Amino acid sequence: MAHMVFRPRRLREKPLLRRMVRETTLSVDDFVYPLFVTHGRSVREPISAMPGQFRVSIDELLKEAKDAAGMGIPAILLFGVPAEKDARASEAYAEDGIIQQAVRAVKDRVPDLLVITDVCLCEYTSHGHCGIVEDGTVRNDPTLELLARTAVSHAEAGADVVAPSDMMDGRVAAIREALDEASYIDTPIMAYSAKYASAFYGPFREAAGSAPQFGDRRGYQMDPANGIEAMREIALDVDEGADIIMVKPALPYLDIISRAKADFGLPLAAYSVSGEYAMIKAAGQLGWLDEKRAMMEALTSIRRAGADIVITYFAKDAARVLEHGGEA
Ligand code: PBG
Repeated sequence: MAHMVFRPRRLREKPLLRRMVRETTLSVDDFVYPLFVTHGRSVREPISAMPGQFRVSIDELLKEAKDAAGMGIPAILLFGVPAEKDARASEAYAEDGIIQQAVRAVKDRVPDLLVITDVCLCEYTSHGHCGIVEDGTVRNDPTLELLARTAVSHAEAGADVVAPSDMMDGRVAAIREALDEASYIDTPIMAYSAKYASAFYGPFREAAGSAPQFGDRRGYQMDPANGIEAMREIALDVDEGADIIMVKPALPYLDIISRAKADFGLPLAAYSVSGEYAMIKAAGQLGWLDEKRAMMEALTSIRRAGADIVITYFAKDAARVLEHGGEA
């Protein structure tokens, strides 16, 4: 018999021992659950490329929110589907816009839940871009003012955290300044700092009706090939006052998550986006992989890479697995 001083299998044999030496934990405390809210009553429209996810009206949103809070999920992230789109994204910052109404309703009826709002214009612009378009290009600086107005309107409605996802330069500073001026000095900013121009947003754009009508988002979102630049983007957001930084998507960018965790001392969120959800759901439905196990493995890997917060459409599914001991 071979004599080996170190036999790693010794610690793998027994489930209880495996549990004791496990390095990464996944908990319901880590999750943020994204939801799409739309006008109307009793609306619950399935999103075809995201099985199990729906566009919901506010009455249905309240049920989702109560459900999430009841499962111990600490926060939801809200996206709005407006009644009207225009060139200036008017409903993004309207006092009675869909998000503003939704935030008020959830804060009123489900107090044990944090409401984070996505701050972006793309769901509200007629052309589907994340900023003001002039001469066929997305203009950075004129967009900042509208983003800041949007963030303040969310804070006014009661949002606990605002999360700018537009990738305009200088938006965190503009939003911080506007929030402070409106005396929302304690409203934190979770910045989508390293947000890549990703094909994995495909299902989301169907869900939010926010696909660009011309061109793409490569003029403002990051090139997937760049890692050093991601650290620069994050450093900028930190300087401008971001309280929580984010890497998005998650699975194809675990190296970026890991670097961000090592380089910055801030809470780090990772957004496991619609396409990541769709891949696992689709393969699960086809019987090509075990959906629950793949879900738990993917979420654990995002935590192992260094994310403190995991934004995921699987939040409820994973919470259910965790409730039953965590083994899928
Ligand atoms: C808005 C926004 C997008 C996502 C989050 N905020 C879409 C985009 O940038 O095109 C994607 C989320 C997902 O795919 O789950 N700018």
